Amino acid sequence: MPEVINLADKVEKQLPAELVGFLRTAGEVAAGQGQSLYLVGGVVRDLLLRRVNLDLDLVVEGDAIKLALQLAEITGGKVITHSRFGTAKLRWQGWSVDLATARSESYTKPGTLPTVKPGSIDTDLFRRDFTINAMAVELIPGGYGRLLDPHRGKADLEHQLIRVLHEKSFIDDATRIWRGLRYEQRLDFQLETDTLKLLKRDIPMLETISGDRIRHELERIFQEEYPEKVLSRAEKLGVLSTLHPSLKGDSWLSEKFRQARSSSLPLSGLYLALLAYRLTDEENEQLISHLKLSKSLGQTLRDTNHLKGELGWLADPALAPSRVYRLLHGYSQSALIANLLASDSPVVQGHIRLFRDKLRYVKPSLTGNDLIKMGVPPGPRMKEILQQLHGARLDGKVKSKKEEEELVRRWAARGK
Ligand code: CTP
Repeated sequence: MPEVINLADKVEKQLPAELVGFLRTAGEVAAGQGQSLYLVGGVVRDLLLRRVNLDLDLVVEGDAIKLALQLAEITGGKVITHSRFGTAKLRWQGWSVDLATARSESYTKPGTLPTVKPGSIDTDLFRRDFTINAMAVELIPGGYGRLLDPHRGKADLEHQLIRVLHEKSFIDDATRIWRGLRYEQRLDFQLETDTLKLLKRDIPMLETISGDRIRHELERIFQEEYPEKVLSRAEKLGVLSTLHPSLKGDSWLSEKFRQARSSSLPLSGLYLALLAYRLTDEENEQLISHLKLSKSLGQTLRDTNHLKGELGWLADPALAPSRVYRLLHGYSQSALIANLLASDSPVVQGHIRLFRDKLRYVKPSLTGNDLIKMGVPPGPRMKEILQQLHGARLDGKVKSKKEEEELVRRWAARGK
């Protein structure tokens, strides 16, 4: 007889009181409807590891939508249902919980999404990626807190191992290759020996995954505390090259990622720009289309690469501020910062910082209207004067509105 383990205490201690109360109520309501209810997946893993995780996933043996609707009434929350998948998301007072009907999955073709049928908690756990993610905690009153661990996930947690449930796992869903590396590096675990062999064997299966799904995995890696660890491991195993053969997950990248974390910019764009930094223009385009990057992320990568080609100009210590401005304006912030981090030249870095902290805010005081009042007719000539004024301001040749007016008069007198 396997030992009965009860996690009610851990649930009580590690989750906020509101969620604990909710789980108890949800269990009672489910039982009242004649259904079984379980807490599953990542949160169970993290309860055992004592890691904070408030992403609650619930599995209902029966009908998740029916339960979600009644819980929405009780909590006064809002529910979004997907009847095709038998899933629901319930939100109330700042909390949110996902509910899914227990299911079984079968994969007809590698890389495509599986065919889904209603199932039991056992089939639902069996469809999952790794043993440490394939545990459940019962929530209905009679069995509240009981751990279901049919694949020995708890033992794997104790031995710090990432293990698939069966040998076709990565073939069914090759995104699990990236997921496995992500958990391994996040938790400082190891891929269990056979799992590692299967993972290496099935790397070519990543070709069966759409660009959108691969990009999603990469985004999730960028949300980790140390994404560089995942990328470095991915390079060593030959996984990183499936994104693009020229990408590297080396010590340069690790150092740049570390520095990127002290910037205040959204990290995922910056990480991506640094990862792609050493690609040529052509390789960059290949990566953009392989990952089906959004317009704006694609632009960030193009900007970064284009600016990289201009850094030679920025290495001149005698460069006037107006010239620095002209070289750097119009690029996205991520492209600027990626180049600041990637450049080894203190002069280049100084120029990018000068632009970021000062020059980009400098504007002439005189406006087009002021110039009209001074007798300058609207048109290309006015545009030119405004540009020259801007340059004079950037270079400190004029410091006040009055000095700008004098300059304009002098230019007018000279017919310039
Ligand atoms: N899952 C899976 N195979 C996938 C994606 C998800 O088996 N390709 C299962 C796992 O059991 C996982 C659960 O669905 O625990 C929830 O998925 P997700 O939110 O991606 O995983 P978490 O474990 O919650 O991941 P994280 O800790 O990174 O949020």
